[in-house]
Amino acid sequence: MTHFPSKNPTKTKAWKNLKRLQKQLSQTNLRELFKNNPKRFNDFHVRFEGLVFDYSKNLVDETTLKELFKLAEECCLDDAKDALFSGSIINKTEGRAVLHHALRNISDLPIEHNGINVMPEINYSLAKMELFTRQVLNGDWKGYSGKAIENVVNIGIGGSDLGPVMVSEALRSYQTRLKVHFVSNVDPAHLGETLKKLDPETTLFVISSKTFTTQETMANAQVAKSWLVTKAQTINAVKQHFVAVSTNAEAVSDFGIDTANMFGFKDWVGGRFSLWSSIGLSICLAVGYENFEELLEGAYVMDLHFKYSQIYHNIPVLMALLGIWYTNFWGCTSQAILPYSQYLHRFPAYLQQAEMESNGKSVDRNGLEVTYPTCGVIWGEAGTNGQHAFYQLIHQGTHLIPTDFIGFSHSEFDAGMNQQLLANFIAQTEALMNGKNLEEVKKELHREGKTEDQILNLANYKVFKGNKPSTSFLFDQLSPRSLGSLIAAYEHKIFVQGVIWNVFSYDQWGVELGKQLAGKILTELKTGENLNTHDSSTNALIEIVKGK
Ligand code: F6P
Repeated sequence: MTHFPSKNPTKTKAWKNLKRLQKQLSQTNLRELFKNNPKRFNDFHVRFEGLVFDYSKNLVDETTLKELFKLAEECCLDDAKDALFSGSIINKTEGRAVLHHALRNISDLPIEHNGINVMPEINYSLAKMELFTRQVLNGDWKGYSGKAIENVVNIGIGGSDLGPVMVSEALRSYQTRLKVHFVSNVDPAHLGETLKKLDPETTLFVISSKTFTTQETMANAQVAKSWLVTKAQTINAVKQHFVAVSTNAEAVSDFGIDTANMFGFKDWVGGRFSLWSSIGLSICLAVGYENFEELLEGAYVMDLHFKYSQIYHNIPVLMALLGIWYTNFWGCTSQAILPYSQYLHRFPAYLQQAEMESNGKSVDRNGLEVTYPTCGVIWGEAGTNGQHAFYQLIHQGTHLIPTDFIGFSHSEFDAGMNQQLLANFIAQTEALMNGKNLEEVKKELHREGKTEDQILNLANYKVFKGNKPSTSFLFDQLSPRSLGSLIAAYEHKIFVQGVIWNVFSYDQWGVELGKQLAGKILTELKTGENLNTHDSSTNALIEIVKGK
């Protein structure tokens, strides 16, 4: 077991130096940095398999980077990595290890948890997922009336939804004959609209919940069960139409699902990191088991890269340090994730949970209030759609927003249109960096034949200050393997940032209060009593709903 000390990052030498370096660097700009070093791209990019990770359009120079690396060292990143990979209890507030990387350990080398190698159990789970996927896909798994399954409904929320839905969408071009639907919201419209289109005889429900107590998932699962049983007119139909993915066998059995049809995983898999576990069952059904395996492989090679690469060429470490640089030294409060791929349209939503639920914390690992900002707001949208929505603010607004651009050189569809997509990707990174100064604007307006008066009235509005940082992830193609690597890179980024921010990244106590209060208010809504125990706004809202 390895432990790493709790360190206030602001007390390090590097932190103080970085403050000074930020002041210096704010006197220059990206245009200058590129002009002064024509080889800047060469110096500030990393290649990994089919990925070019280009971080040259960031507000850093060699000196800053060296100091950021020192910050990581002073915050004991190496010890922290050892603790992660050796299965230490790094999720202290829940008393758990963090071993999602073991789920994609295709080397099969032993990984121990409490002195026991976890690999045999992981391999057993994978074999069970593979067998089940084949049975459903080839029609051997039949519904209550003897028909093969055609539609699958994954019922889950948070990590039991966002990972599977994001990957299934991203790998849509690998889709099997099954139509896989995802229902997460307790809004009855979500399940209702989904079931409208489905035939109970050919529908399989995958109830995905680590705890099997999450109220949204349980409510949806109960309604789905009633829907099936009403149509089938026998409770026995549940056996062929419901499987569970969970760590809680007792609750699965209480719900009425045979534990033989349960796909288990362990509590050392955090919900938002669980797509690699049995929670990936819906992914297997959506894109086939072989593609799921390739996804695991892609993540595994990124794990090796993170574990063994020198800090200077380590993509997740660089991602994390750039994020810290902007959050803690440039005052940035958000980061935009901009995938130039329609397939990745759910990726920003997936990362919102992964990053914000992990590092949206304000108490450090000593139990003390932090005195520095931690994770900012993660948001985004697929390009080019975002360009016609919020890029205005990134270009000309008052916030400095670092951006991650993610794209793929090859598409199986129209090559010309893909070039158009990539032209936009590249152009945006250039525009954000260079901007357009007053002189350039005036020259342009002159060329357009505008009068001096018109130029005077318009010029200021057309200035782009530029100097907006972006990082480009340009992959050869979107495949299960490249997607696995991309996701794992962000997971490790989150880990590194948590280490430096000195927070516990793997708990999520901040979601509890709302759950508790919703339970209380639900009772009040159901009993119809006016308990009047809240503030005037909350009381009024309850009364209005009760009046309906
Ligand atoms: O919202 C909190 C949370 O615990 C997430 O961390 C988790 O991914 C989600 O709820 C769903 O939990 P479960 O898989 O136990 O239903």
